[in-house]
Amino acid sequence: MMASCSKRTFALILCSVLLQLAGVARAGNFYQDVDITWGDGRGKIAGDGNLLTLSLDRASGSGFQSKNQYLYGRFDVQLKLVPGDSAGTVATFYLSSQGSAHDEIDFEFLGNASGEPYTVHTNVYSQGKGGREQQFRMWFDPTADFHTYSVLWNPTHILFYVDGTPIREHRNRQAATGVPFPTQQPMRVYASMWDAEEWATQGGRVKTDWSRAPFTASYKGLAASGCASQDAAACARSNGAWMYQELDTTAQDRLLWVQKNYMIYNYCADTWRFRQGAPPECAAAN
Ligand SMILES: *[C@@H]1O[C@H](CO)[C@@H](O)[C@H](O)[C@H]1NC(C)=O
Repeated sequence: MMASCSKRTFALILCSVLLQLAGVARAGNFYQDVDITWGDGRGKIAGDGNLLTLSLDRASGSGFQSKNQYLYGRFDVQLKLVPGDSAGTVATFYLSSQGSAHDEIDFEFLGNASGEPYTVHTNVYSQGKGGREQQFRMWFDPTADFHTYSVLWNPTHILFYVDGTPIREHRNRQAATGVPFPTQQPMRVYASMWDAEEWATQGGRVKTDWSRAPFTASYKGLAASGCASQDAAACARSNGAWMYQELDTTAQDRLLWVQKNYMIYNYCADTWRFRQGAPPECAAAN
């Protein structure tokens, strides 16, 4: 994030003043950056504030949200998922605005029976409408170690990354299709650990083994580099790095590699669901 600043010729002090004006939050201290909003003690910040754990047991899950709101930005977190039998549990990392016509950008991690693979589920809501799911397997065991999951959101693109590899690109096709893209409503960062045994694992057939509770996911190094909603223009000027980012050819190749080898569901390709034709934003020509 600092790179966006040092690349330019601003004196360091001027640069940091600009960043502060633009409301940019720096790599993380959970004590400063988030509020644990539910779970009655099941969400815990550890050590010097770099680690946050969210737990789920039969009585409740838990979750946190960022203190700041952002209009565009780049959001990274390192996440280590529940090891062993995590069937029925869902860990999340997402951005959302408020209200019934809200916008939302989701990463959800659907647990599984012991030895079976996690599903990484993504979705994009605009103006209250979602239904834009893409799902992936990971090319590693996401329970064995921390991996970085990132959302980049600017006026033209929403990009999902895993360890720096793009896994999904959702472009702003509003001009061509009329399908709204999130451009107006500031969002907070959220994360949660919750129980979805009715549907999450193999369509709800595999239930949660509550004798193994609590189920715990660990979050590290939350970094939010975003525009404060009041001052998006100033922020855009000082943050070219992600504000104008799109995929170069190397990144496009990586994206195709992921989609070819690890994508297990794409709403755009679900002809059974969309019998009248795929949603307009799916057409490549748009
Ligand atoms: C769990 O594992 C099964 C069997 O490998 C797989 O079909 C399923 O997609 C996996 N994920 C979830 C969330 O059920």
